[in-house]
Amino acid sequence: MDSTHSCVTVHMAASLDGFIARKDGRVDWLETADEYAGGDTLDAAYIEAFLKTIDCYVMGSRTYQTALNFEAQGLGWAYGDKPTFVLTSRDLPRTRDTVEFHCGDLVQFVNGQLRPRFHSIWVVGGGVVSGACLRLGLADEIRYSILPILIGDGIAFFYQLDRDIALHLTEVKAYRSGMVELRYAVRGP
Ligand SMILES: NC(=O)c1ccc[n+]([C@@H]2O[C@H](COP(=O)([O-])OP(=O)(O)OC[C@H]3O[C@@H](n4cnc5c(N)ncnc54)[C@H](OP(=O)(O)O)[C@@H]3O)[C@@H](O)[C@H]2O)c1
Repeated sequence: MDSTHSCVTVHMAASLDGFIARKDGRVDWLETADEYAGGDTLDAAYIEAFLKTIDCYVMGSRTYQTALNFEAQGLGWAYGDKPTFVLTSRDLPRTRDTVEFHCGDLVQFVNGQLRPRFHSIWVVGGGVVSGACLRLGLADEIRYSILPILIGDGIAFFYQLDRDIALHLTEVKAYRSGMVELRYAVRGP
């Protein structure tokens, strides 16, 4: 595959005040009870078709550990049978064949190993990894799903950004659940 046609998307859901988890890592606030009458409904067939367009996932080790906890609680594995690359320097349990661990230079990994193999690369958190992707100029687009809640404090969507990053708004969608999805292209320097 021609690596110039790959796309790295950073996607997470966040509170309106910009947090992806509470300080202790809990995401209990993701279930909200709002209803916006003018919003779209996400039906299962649409979600299934959309997920098919994603070729692989990349995540930090703490996000992986949250995903394993969800699975242990009977909530399933959110990443289907897609290759899932977990960034870690630790020796973590590998629960399925689709999971691969990686440690080290993120630029070399994304540009040198993932872009030539995959078209649609989704970075699904957490804040440390999304911050690194933006700082290192690896992200092509950001999808930011804002939930109708304020939580006051927590883990920020982007950790340790050291400069402004200009964005171009490409899509806005509001859902019946009160969630608003913002999609931005990352503008070049
Ligand atoms: N709201 C949402 O949509 C959403 C989405 C995803 C996650 N979350 C939440 O966010 C929280 C986790 O976010 P976080 O920012 O604390 O952590 P994170 O980004 O998930 O993971 C950070 C860890 O990944 C490893 N890592 C990162 N870059 C690496 C590299 N280049 N090479 C090797 N290892 C690397 C390091 O851990 P090691 O010590 O293992 O090396 C680092 O401490 C969880 O509570 C999760 O539930 C929320």
